[in-house]
Amino acid sequence: MIVTEGLTRHYGEIVAVDNLTMKIKSGEIFGFLGPNGAGKTTTVRVLCCLISITAGNAFIGDYQVGKPEDSLKIRKMVGLLPENAGLYERLSAYRNLDFYGKLYEMPETRRKENIEHFLRMLGLWERKDQIAGTFSKGMKQKIALARALIHDPEIIFLDEPTAGLDPEAAQMVRNFILELKKEKRTIFLNTHNLDEADKICDRIGLIKTKLIRIASPEDLKKGLWSRKTAIQLHNLNDTILKTVKQLDSVKSFQTMDNKLILEVDDPEKENPSIIEAIIKAGGKIVFVTEVRPSLEDVYLKLIKEA
Ligand SMILES: Nc1ncnc2c1ncn2[C@@H]1O[C@H](COP(=O)(O)OP(=O)(O)OP(=O)(O)O)[C@@H](O)[C@H]1O
Ligand SMILES: [Mg+2]
Repeated sequence: MIVTEGLTRHYGEIVAVDNLTMKIKSGEIFGFLGPNGAGKTTTVRVLCCLISITAGNAFIGDYQVGKPEDSLKIRKMVGLLPENAGLYERLSAYRNLDFYGKLYEMPETRRKENIEHFLRMLGLWERKDQIAGTFSKGMKQKIALARALIHDPEIIFLDEPTAGLDPEAAQMVRNFILELKKEKRTIFLNTHNLDEADKICDRIGLIKTKLIRIASPEDLKKGLWSRKTAIQLHNLNDTILKTVKQLDSVKSFQTMDNKLILEVDDPEKENPSIIEAIIKAGGKIVFVTEVRPSLEDVYLKLIKEA
């Protein structure tokens, strides 16, 4: 479990993270979203004991961030994929990982097993002896991901793991993250990819220096929009519009070409009779669909309001 209580970090005059209070449960994939400069990387760096806290507290499991005697224990518990991969360019992929494994005092057998396991999972085992400096950006990212996991951490911080990856590689990394969840690891994911967050995160925190909202992707979307129904017609005429206006069950509506977008309180109950009324008024219906806001809609709305 990760807990922050009023976590605050300044860089001189700049307030990077302000009074952040949140709880991340063991075994969940937590997505941390926010605009450039919102404080995501700063939060991660604080939680990994790489920079100090200005005010407030943070705990990783039973250990307190910033307490000197707990720092080493926290570092062993967490793995970090930083914003920039930062590999030793002149060492091979294998030796990069081996070096980190040794730093973490991993026994040789386990170290070797993990290096092979992760390089195979990420499709780079065949190229293990290639010098890191000669890998492509996406490949470096994958090696850095393996490096974050080499010491079997319970909690993994991933700072934009799919940034700059091609769609196939990004999907591979997302599937990899889901595999890590199956292994009961906790994943803290900084991302700008809203579709990615929507697909794989159990909960999402929105930050813009201060925490704006924290909820599951579904609840974020449900909380902000009333449910809407889109009815695509062959012909949208005045008779149909007049009929729709007269229906008490329709709270409001918009039109887009031949499409009607209705706001209805209880669509399960009321939509059948609304559709019947439209047909009676001469409407030829082509499609009826529920309109769901995307996480992008929600994100843009909340960030704008903040
Ligand atoms: N080493 C530093 N010295 C001074 N200011 C810094 C430093 N690191 C970050 N900041 C500032 O702290 C704020 C938060 O930066 P941070 O890197 O945490 O944002 P972020 O949410 O990760 O953004 P991005 O999405 O662009 O990665 C920014 O205003 C940034 O300029
Ligand atoms: Mg960042």
